[in-house]
Parts: sequence; structure tokens; C-alpha cells
Amino acid sequence: MTRVAGRTAFITGGGSGVALGQAKIFAQAGCKVAIADIRQDHLDEAMAWFDQTDFQVMPVKLDITDRAAYAAAADAVEARLGPVELLFNTAGVSIFGPLEKATYEDWDWQLSVNLNGVINGIQTFVPRMIARGNGGHIVNTASMSAFVALKGTGIYCTTKMAIRGLSECLALDLAEHGIGVSMLCPGAVNTNIHEAVLTRPEHLRNTGYYGADPAMFAHLKKVIEVGMEPETLARYVLDGVEQDQLYILPYPEFRGTLEDIHMRVMMALARPEDDPDYEKRVAHGVPGGERRRADA
Ligand SMILES: NC(=O)c1ccc[n+]([C@@H]2O[C@H](COP(=O)([O-])OP(=O)(O)OC[C@H]3O[C@@H](n4cnc5c(N)ncnc54)[C@H](O)[C@@H]3O)[C@@H](O)[C@H]2O)c1
Repeated sequence: MTRVAGRTAFITGGGSGVALGQAKIFAQAGCKVAIADIRQDHLDEAMAWFDQTDFQVMPVKLDITDRAAYAAAADAVEARLGPVELLFNTAGVSIFGPLEKATYEDWDWQLSVNLNGVINGIQTFVPRMIARGNGGHIVNTASMSAFVALKGTGIYCTTKMAIRGLSECLALDLAEHGIGVSMLCPGAVNTNIHEAVLTRPEHLRNTGYYGADPAMFAHLKKVIEVGMEPETLARYVLDGVEQDQLYILPYPEFRGTLEDIHMRVMMALARPEDDPDYEKRVAHGVPGGERRRADA
């Protein structure tokens, strides 16, 4: 999408952190912006900043796991700001610890927000975008956890690797409709994600890890407070949207790790000369061969 000015953006998690940075930068670039968040205090703080500006910004209280509420929020935003042509699936939560300690509720909470919340955004807005025929762009915020498995990040990593598959397939499916897809993969960002458990719903309260523990919040904050500032990150996103980049990967410190991972995968992958059935499968257009030809 070469021109974002004048378009309407819907940004989940927009009251804080990465998403608030996106809201500020895209508003500065001339977008009308809806910030959707489950935390009213985050929306209020964000609006206190936007109210000092001339930007057209609409706050929406929304739990992205609630499909009916999501559709109602989309209707309300489009009635006020016009058709949404930029969707930012940014809201996300995290809780860390070894997988063997996880409860079903730990799994359900993170999957419901980090994966189902993104699916709900796509299900809500993609049919509208296609029907209007004006194109658009979707930015899914994953993480470097979409590529890198670290000890103790199992549930979070599962959700973010899923976002990678979803984003890559969505980009292929939506290209013919003029809708671009980007996957943003941050490393550390200086946000409020250390407080994510505060948004955990009551029915998923049972955890094998930790609750709203100030010592844990302080520990987690130390890890992210040296991270990139959200507005700096959002400027990479603006470039990525304008240049229709699938991967937005602004963290050079991961180069060595990613080279290592891809090298290990290539070392494990069989070679054509070792498999007598290889030519037969490729000649019949099995998915691997198809993808290779499409990329050629
Ligand atoms: N902070 C980092 O270091 C980091 C690194 C990699 C990826 N990310 C990703 O960035 C995204 C944004 O996180 P952040 O770091 O800005 O955290 P943050 O906590 O500052 O912001 C997330 C916002 O999402 C909202 N939210 C949570 N659950 C919601 C729900 N069910 N419905 C609607 N809103 C909800 C929160 O209230 C909060 O305002 C997440 O997807 C996260 O996984 C963050």
C-alpha cells in the first residue's frame, strides 16, 4: 500500500505499548485511527495524549476474544471513521514458565488472545475489505518467538509461530484482492506487557505460573525496559506497510540465531539424490514443488 494517508486503521491493544506506538505513527501519517483495548485505563491514558493533538482517534473498549463484541466494534468504528482498510492485530499477552507446569487455563488464555484474537480480527474485517474492493493492509504482530524457541516460552512461542503460518498463508490468499499482509516480529520492546496477567479473565484464572506479583512484574520489566521504544518500532511498520513487506524484522541481534536455525533445518532436509521418489512427486505438482515454482 503506497499511500496510507486518509485511510482508517483499526488497532487492537491500542491503549498501550507496541499498538499505541502504531496508533501515534499512523495518525501522524494521516490515518484515522481506532484504538481497541480491553483496559479502560490504557484507553484513557492514550486518549489523554491524543486529545492534545489534531489527530482523529476513536477509543473502543473491546475484548478481542469476544466475536460478537468485535463485530459491533467494527460497525461502530466504520460508522464514525469510515471503512477500515488497515487492520493491526497487535494485542497480545504472555506468561512464561516450563510447559510441564502449564494448566489448561494457561494454554486457553494465551491461545484465545494471541491466536483467536487475530483470527477474529481477520474474520471480522477481511470480508468487508474484499467486498469494498479498495484493497488494504493487515499487520499481525508476532514476535521473534515466531522463529526462535526459547526455554520457558512454550505457550507464547506456540501462539507466535501460529501467527507466522497464518500471516504467510493470508498473504498468498489475499494478494489477488490487493490486500497486503505483514508480520511484525519484535524482540524486546519497552511496553507494559509485564502486566499482561492483569487482563486475564476470571474463568481462566487457574495458573501453573504466577499471578499479579509485583516482584515478577519488576523482574519482567527489567528484561523489556532496555527494548526498542514503540514509536521507533512503529516507524519500521509504516515503511513495511508502504513497501508491502511480508516480514518486518527490525532486530539485527537475531541474525546469528536465525542463520543457525535455518542452517539446521537445511542440514536435516533430505536431498533429491537420496530419494528415488522425488522426481515423481515433483512431476505431479506436490505442494513443495508447487511452492518452489511459484517463488522462481
Ligand atoms: N514487549 C515486548 O518485548 C514484545 C516483544 C515481542 C512481541 N510483542 C508483542 O507485541 C504485542 C503488544 O504487546 P505490548 O508489548 O505492547 O504489551 P502491552 O501490554 O503494553 O500492550 C498490549 C495491550 O493489549 C491489551 N489487551 C490484552 N488483552 C486484550 C484483549 N483480550 N482484547 C483487547 N486488548 C487486549 C492490553 O490491555 C494492552 O493495552 C503483543 O502481541 C506481544 O506479544 C511484545
